Amino acid sequence: MGQDEIDPIVTPAPRSGEAPLGRVQGQHEHWLRCLVVDERGELLSRVRPANLLDGALMLYATETPTAALGAFELWQPDVVLVQLEVARALDLLSALRALGEPSDFLPVVILLSREDAQHRAEALASGAADVIVGPFSISELDSRLRYLVRVRHLHARLEDQDRKLEERVCQRSHHLEQVALSTIDRLAQVGEFRDFTDEHVRRVGKVARGIANNLGLAADVANRIERAAPLHDLGKVAIPDRILLKPGPLTEDELAIMRTHTTIGARILEGSDSAVLQLAGTIAQYHHERWDGRGYGGLAGDSIPLAARIVAVADVFDALTHDRPYRRAWHVDAALDLIDFERGGCFDPDVVDAFQLLMAGPLEGANSRSVA
Ligand SMILES: [Fe+2]
Ligand SMILES: [Fe+2]
Repeated sequence: MGQDEIDPIVTPAPRSGEAPLGRVQGQHEHWLRCLVVDERGELLSRVRPANLLDGALMLYATETPTAALGAFELWQPDVVLVQLEVARALDLLSALRALGEPSDFLPVVILLSREDAQHRAEALASGAADVIVGPFSISELDSRLRYLVRVRHLHARLEDQDRKLEERVCQRSHHLEQVALSTIDRLAQVGEFRDFTDEHVRRVGKVARGIANNLGLAADVANRIERAAPLHDLGKVAIPDRILLKPGPLTEDELAIMRTHTTIGARILEGSDSAVLQLAGTIAQYHHERWDGRGYGGLAGDSIPLAARIVAVADVFDALTHDRPYRRAWHVDAALDLIDFERGGCFDPDVVDAFQLLMAGPLEGANSRSVA
């Protein structure tokens, strides 16, 4: 056998009627695989006839670290016994740890020919599960292996439970988010019926998403903004018809009432666990803030939530370019000029840049210059 060749040694199966250790204890659904790395053959000569773990252990013997790494990838052992010169053993230990799954617990046992406190400490610090000093008894090795494979099994079971729990949490979150999206759609319809602005809120959502994309926001964030934006004027459900639908300019008192739609909308939407409903509340609250601080609540610049700065531009553009009870729609070019004029005044300059980039190209469902 060449130096790097691997010699698999399979221990005899348990006697008829006798289940292997793993099955007896309900631990394993397969034989346990033990990789033995032994350059002088001493360890192997003792372990091979020992019938470790009542014969539930399959041994794979290798002589060199290189062969051990090959065997590891091929057989995915449950436990590794290493009897090499200490420096080579530690190198092998780190190579095995790098090869294995980070979440996996692979017990590697280092065998030292004589007691050496420093070597023992180094081996344990490098991740060895145990250090056994020769001459050792086979029954001691057997007990330690039983303990280690049990820890490995329990670790794997815990990992499995964690994974299943994560899956369940993920499914539940997805379900809750779907419920939230459905709620948003229904609430948006309420707002539409009340405000008589047709598809205004959905167009605002589309334009807001396009702006978010051009600002380089992550796709899921842009998507959330599109879903949340249609509720920006939800608070208008509480504004009296005589003000909301007045076919002319509002008085100061009427304007004061109209301005409460931001806080009313935020109040309707507050307290939800859903990220999209929370964002909708933020947008409802702050979409009439101005970059220069002269908006409804007096916030300025970056202190205004970005989603609200985005929706502010999308909302004004769409409102201007469509008929309202008190005025006819503006021409798209006039609306674009106004938004450009308000760059740094009413609106965040970066958001205006992203909006203008959007308007320079085609946009399905919105009034880009190319479709006006
Ligand atoms: Fe509004
Ligand atoms: Fe609006």
